[in-house]
This record gives sequence, C-alpha cells and structure tokens, in this order.
Amino acid sequence: MKTEILPTHTKSLFNAAVKRAVELLRAGEVVALPTETVYGLAANALDETVVAKIFQIKGRPEHNPIIVHVIGNDMAKSCVKDFSALAENFSKSFWPGPLTLVLPRANNIPNNVTAGGETVGVRWPSHPIMQAVIRECGFPLAAPSANLSNQISPTNAAHVRAQLDGKIPLIVDGGQSQVGIESTVLDLTVSPPRILRPGMIHAESLAAVAGNLQPSTFNLQPSTLRSPGMLAKHYSPKAKLVILHWSDESELVSQLSTFNFQLSTTHVIAHTEIPAGFPPENVSVIPHDAESFARALYGELHRCDAAGAELIVVEAPPETPEWSGIADRLRRAAA
Ligand code: TXA
Ligand code: MG
Repeated sequence: MKTEILPTHTKSLFNAAVKRAVELLRAGEVVALPTETVYGLAANALDETVVAKIFQIKGRPEHNPIIVHVIGNDMAKSCVKDFSALAENFSKSFWPGPLTLVLPRANNIPNNVTAGGETVGVRWPSHPIMQAVIRECGFPLAAPSANLSNQISPTNAAHVRAQLDGKIPLIVDGGQSQVGIESTVLDLTVSPPRILRPGMIHAESLAAVAGNLQPSTFNLQPSTLRSPGMLAKHYSPKAKLVILHWSDESELVSQLSTFNFQLSTTHVIAHTEIPAGFPPENVSVIPHDAESFARALYGELHRCDAAGAELIVVEAPPETPEWSGIADRLRRAAA
C-alpha cells in the first residue's frame, strides 16, 4: 500500500487533508492523525471490524483497550453509560486537552475498543486537525498512538512514517505535537479517582478538581493490570536507556565507565549539567522546564534510535509533580 502524507500548513491544504482523512475513515480505513499529545492511529470507534485493523497494524495485544476521541461533551456522553458530575467537572477544567477519562462504557462501543472490559477511555483532544476530522466524520475515533506496539510514540509525521509506511493509506502532517507525551489516564469508575497513566496534567491539578485521588502505584504486575500502559516495560527505544544524576562531567564519565559501551554510540540527554567533552552530535540539550522537555523527549529518543545509539543516558528529571509524567515514561523506557 502506498502511504500518502498530506501537509496542512495553509488553509486549503488543511481543508484538503481533513477531507481526505474523513473520506478514508468513512470508507473503513485506518489513518494517522496528529493530536496535541502524540500522533494517533485512528479508525471509526463504533465499527468493530475497522478497530480490529488497528490492532493488526500495530501488532497490539488484544487485552489493551483503545482510547476513544470525541469532540464535545455530547459525543463523550454517547460513548459512556454515565457521564457523572465529576466527569463534567474534569471536562470543564481540562478538555479539550491531554486527559483521558475512564468511564462505564455505552453499549454501542465495540468489545475490542474496551478490550472486553466494562469501561471506556474517552478524550476530547485539542489539536485542530483531529477536531476537524472528528467533527466532519460525526463519529468518535478510536486511536492509540501511531507506533508499532511497545515502541516510542510518534510526535511528528516522519516518526509515523518510519514505523508505518506502507501499512496505512494516509498520514496527516500536523506538525510537531505540542505536549509530546501521551495523555494522563484517569479512572473515574473508582472513588476516589485513580491515575492509571501519569501525564502532563498531573496529580495536583487533578486533585484540585476531584478533591481527592487514590495513591498511585505504577509498577503493577500484569495480573492486576488495569491499564496495560502501566506495564513497567513499555514505550522503549531500541537502545538501552539509563537515568543518572551527575554534578559534573567527571562524575558522569566515571559512572559511564561501569557500563560496557563505546562513547561513540553513547548519547546523552541533558537539561542542567551539559557535558562538553562528548561528540556534540551525541549530546541533546533540552530546556529545563517540564513542558519543553516533554515536547522534545520522544523526538530525541527517535533520533537516538535512528542514529544507532546503543546507550542513552538521560539526566534524571526533578521529582516535582510537573515532571511526574516525564519521569514515568523515562522509567518505562529504562525498564
Ligand atoms: O495521548 C494519548 O492518549 C494518545 C493520543 C493518540 O490520544 N493515545 C494513546 O493511546 O496514548 P495508547 O493506546 O497508546 O495508550 C492508551 C492507554 C493504554 O495504556 C491503555 O491501556 C489505556 O490508555 N486505556 C485505554 N482505555 C482504557 C480503559 N478503558 N481502562 C483502562 N485503561 C485504558
Ligand atoms: Mg501507545
């Protein structure tokens, strides 16, 4: 299959790309679309047969449920049995945006979307292309991240192409994803609510709306799994990844000497203590604020993979709530 990539940087290109995506989605195809978090691999969420194609294309295990993307509370309500007052409050505070709410599923949501469970994850994304496509389709879109299972999520169209070229008919290029890591997943079917996957909307912001949250444990065993995104090993680059603290370059170098890797295939991702003695192409500097770091992180990991890095050393992030989603993804990438 030939994969078409459509740009969107002018009004007419935007409209043409949306039109083409809608045509394909109406015809039961799977297409890659930009969202503000990461790119999604989208299909009609109400059609079990096309949702099955998503699993097949990604090599995704059947037990992993897919998030349903909507526009507006009315469409969200059509996907769930009970859109509670608390869900209304979360919608008011954070939608459209990088928050997925897990709620009791409606009967029209196919079994493979929920992985056979009684809940469905619903998100109203803020990306204008995703919004325009959902609006014109008139149906919700099931969309996991547009990567092969267990690999790093794509944050631009080139990342999607590197993994899915030839497997889907269309990638809509909506530029760089603004958030850069996947949405926070919040389970509202338990009381108090529980974070299933941390993200850039962090616990303190959520607690301000919910009043209270369950304490989180993010290292659950598969047997007790509520959300396969919580598996320790997930979202990983090909290279081995380690998270280290260093106060100066000599401390970094001495820590690295305990690993059996060539410096030439070692890549450093730093945000405060920047090593000067490494080949410059092996050092990435990401600004020391959580938003910028999240936006750039996956791009750097994709770049390391493409460059054939064997060891990726990431400077440990701060332990504050703003960094909790980033810390979570780094832990999984290092697992
Ligand atoms: O930001 C995002 O959430 C991106 C964009 C495309 O929206 N999507 C995304 O989808 O990251 P995916 O499939 O890569 O990750 C979805 C996560 C998985 O960990 C899945 O287990 C969890 O959400 N999830 C989905 N539905 C769920 C449900 N009903 N109950 C519990 N966890 C659920
Ligand atoms: Mg994913």
